[in-house]
Amino acid sequence: MKNYNISLIKGDGIGVEIVDEAIKVLSAVGKKFDINFEYKEYLMGGCAIDATGNPLPQETIDGVLNSDACLFGAIGGPKWDNQPRELRPESGLLRFRKEMGVFANLRPAVVYDELVDASSLKPEVIKGVDIMVVRELIGGIYFGEPKGKTETKGWNTMVYEVYEIERIAHVAFKLAMKRDKKLCSIDKANVLDVSQLWRDTVTKIATQYPEVELSHMYVDNCAMQLIANPRQFDVILTGNIFGDILSDEASMLSGSIGLLPSASTGEKTAVYEPIHGSAPDIAGQGIANPIATISSASMMLRYSLGEEEAADAIDNAIKTAMKDGYRTGDLAAFDAKEVVNTQRMGEIIASLI
Ligand SMILES: NC(=O)c1ccc[n+]([C@@H]2O[C@H](COP(=O)([O-])OP(=O)(O)OC[C@H]3O[C@@H](n4cnc5c(N)ncnc54)[C@H](O)[C@@H]3O)[C@@H](O)[C@H]2O)c1
Repeated sequence: MKNYNISLIKGDGIGVEIVDEAIKVLSAVGKKFDINFEYKEYLMGGCAIDATGNPLPQETIDGVLNSDACLFGAIGGPKWDNQPRELRPESGLLRFRKEMGVFANLRPAVVYDELVDASSLKPEVIKGVDIMVVRELIGGIYFGEPKGKTETKGWNTMVYEVYEIERIAHVAFKLAMKRDKKLCSIDKANVLDVSQLWRDTVTKIATQYPEVELSHMYVDNCAMQLIANPRQFDVILTGNIFGDILSDEASMLSGSIGLLPSASTGEKTAVYEPIHGSAPDIAGQGIANPIATISSASMMLRYSLGEEEAADAIDNAIKTAMKDGYRTGDLAAFDAKEVVNTQRMGEIIASLI
């Protein structure tokens, strides 16, 4: 039997409800594929502020760094919105990503056939969309120096060093090798020097992956192409700020924020989490869609633990649940045969493993 140590950060709001359902599904794959998961729970966000006065206790940083991977729910909520900025749940999250050194953010945008009507785009445009956005997460303009603000002027600096571009490019090319072997690198090389370096570096790295077809696209064109013809993309590689915007745009192709997982990986550890927040408006009601978190658990099996078969089993179980017409409230309007609550959706997916 294989053993993995998983750190859990359930967080605030619906975080607790959705992580519990992912654990249910992991138990089912554990039984089927002879895998034992040992969980240790850590505090972060509002619950950590309430318990310790600090949104990111040192114990959480140490615990996650010592685990094989981290499964994360969501943090934040109105209760903590009036705290000083450094004591808000969100500042704990930014510090957490930096401490973990997770430089690569992977966000799949997949459209389930059964939910083509849930998107705001026409079914014939989005049917079959399966994109992986690879975004650089701990560099670029969000972190570059100098930065500052006076009464009359504000400035930030977009900086990338070659090693930062190389390491994220390798992640993207390796993913492309496992997928349709197409990689589109996004930049603004017609205007920005930093983007010219980005393009030159990605082009150089491409020589190590001759099977992958590399193309380059300006970020403004990519924003249009994602709406006009999203099926042309397989892997999209991009820097921090462009990736922030494009990955949100791509994620909306699928129709519900409750479906979308993410992985943030680096050299030390990896964190798997839904892209949505703590949804305070529906917290505690048992109606949140747990699929984004269950899908994040599948990404954890695939990318951190090398358990491809178990990951496939989860992905297939989610697809079958969709095909069988089970829907949580957020998707009730789209071909629902039965509208179920959070727990029941977890049970259904676990039973389909
Ligand atoms: N990574 C994170 O932990 C993270 C990310 C984004 C926002 N937040 C925090 O979450 C709190 C709420 O933020 P927000 O309202 O802007 O974003 P949100 O993603 O929490 O919610 C946006 C909308 O989507 C719905 N929704 C979200 N997840 C859902 C799910 N699984 N099933 C069904 N519906 C779902 C919510 O009910 C809400 O109507 C804030 O404190 C914010 O800072 C945390």
